Amino acid sequence: MGNIARHVAIIMDGNGRWAQERGLKRVKGHERGAEAVRSITTFASNHPEIEVLTLYAFSTENWKRPKMEVDFLMKLLNRYLKNETQTYLKHKIRFETVGDLSRFSPALREQIEKMKSLTKNFTRLTQVLALNYGSQDEIARAARKLCDQKREITVETLGESIESAPFGPVDILIRTGGDQRLSNFLLWQCAYAELFFTPTLWPDFNPDELDSIISQFKRRVRRFGGI
Ligand code: IPE
Ligand code: IPE
Ligand code: MG
Repeated sequence: MGNIARHVAIIMDGNGRWAQERGLKRVKGHERGAEAVRSITTFASNHPEIEVLTLYAFSTENWKRPKMEVDFLMKLLNRYLKNETQTYLKHKIRFETVGDLSRFSPALREQIEKMKSLTKNFTRLTQVLALNYGSQDEIARAARKLCDQKREITVETLGESIESAPFGPVDILIRTGGDQRLSNFLLWQCAYAELFFTPTLWPDFNPDELDSIISQFKRRVRRFGGI
């Protein structure tokens, strides 16, 4: 029994270091990272408890990287969505995103929308990719919306207005790559998340490690402020 791992969110960090350790270019690490996305998503879709898997793929701050790396990540995402269509259909995975997509190319946006509409009726797992996502940006956008609508700002109204509200609070937050920080990811939704930091670099993160994190999560005592 224990806690229910309904919403798992992952900061997929360490692709660059994975490649550098092997004398490879950083982008090779992103390629291997995409394979880890596939295996973790497939595992989650077959897990009895996980309903939502939110993956931090590109932050509002990641535009600071060299143009060549940013361009590569955009191409990789496009290729991933094209190549993995069968995985989403076979495992009945609904594809969603959070973040401001307006900065992406029309071709990539089209690919994203295509995947969303193709999978919109699936309920086994919702995979949410955080793309050009920043939690502070998300909260500011929600506050602006409430102001425009001349509505009161309360924990309830703000909580309902943030873009990622439909996916609910995070139960398990994992960061791979060894750093222990949130890097502007799901700050609101992680208010009572259980946090897990692993030194494993993202391309090496596998379903066995996720399974072991879920087992630890089940044994943790969640008090939510109570006793
Ligand atoms: C995470 O890996 C992937 C993205 C941010 C797109 P990094 O690219 O940040 O890898 P490190 O942290 O430099 O090793
Ligand atoms: C966080 O990783 C963003 C993603 C995993 C997409 P970063 O590598 O960008 O985070 P910092 O810069 O180390 O905080
Ligand atoms: Mg990093």
